[in-house]
Amino acid sequence: MKQKSNIVWHHASVTRDRRERLNDHHSAVIWFTGLSGSGKSTLSHAVEEKLFQMKCRTYVLDGDNIRHGLCADLGFSDNDRKENIRRIGETAKLFVDAGVVTLTAFISPFRSDRLVARQLFDVGDFIEVYCRCPLEICESRDVKGMYRRARAGEIQNFTGISSPYEEPVSPELIVDTGSLSLAQCVDEIIGFLRESGVIISLEGVR
Ligand code: ADX
Repeated sequence: MKQKSNIVWHHASVTRDRRERLNDHHSAVIWFTGLSGSGKSTLSHAVEEKLFQMKCRTYVLDGDNIRHGLCADLGFSDNDRKENIRRIGETAKLFVDAGVVTLTAFISPFRSDRLVARQLFDVGDFIEVYCRCPLEICESRDVKGMYRRARAGEIQNFTGISSPYEEPVSPELIVDTGSLSLAQCVDEIIGFLRESGVIISLEGVR
């Protein structure tokens, strides 16, 4: 099936650099990882809202949504999760090339899979944000009722219950979503984006 040797890369004249200049900000992927119910989706959309109001080009790739389309053929075995994260990494890479501040909200439970995604990007373009929230809190929230069903054995391979979650060793940012308010979490991430230069260069014109 692979026919890489017969495929030649076409270089676009409209480059990422030109798109970033037009947008008046840099692009990057903000890779949220954490247990189900740890706040990845809520936080990524709240950060997007803030960035959008600052006139940044943004897009959220959200686990539950992407699994309705691009990854609808995948389940929750280790291999399917690996493929899920591979596709999201590649998709995020396209979005970053398109000049978009891309926020991904996937459990992405395995270090090796997150590393594969990270390695698709230049240093500084991949910002791993660990949404740190104890399992007990995620389980007590149980927004979708899935922890209860997982405990009852109705859902197999459920992260934190019957499938592992490997905490990031050195993420760019750890956000304590179990104890901080949403606004505090958003501020930490926006602060990081300013400090790391993704949006700081435009501060004067906002
Ligand atoms: S990942 O592990 O491959 O990164 P992803 O973020 O796409 O997972 O999807 C997680 C979402 O799918 C959860 O928020 C939950 O709503 C749902 N889900 C359904 N089954 C499972 C399961 N076995 N483990 C974890 N999440 C599940």
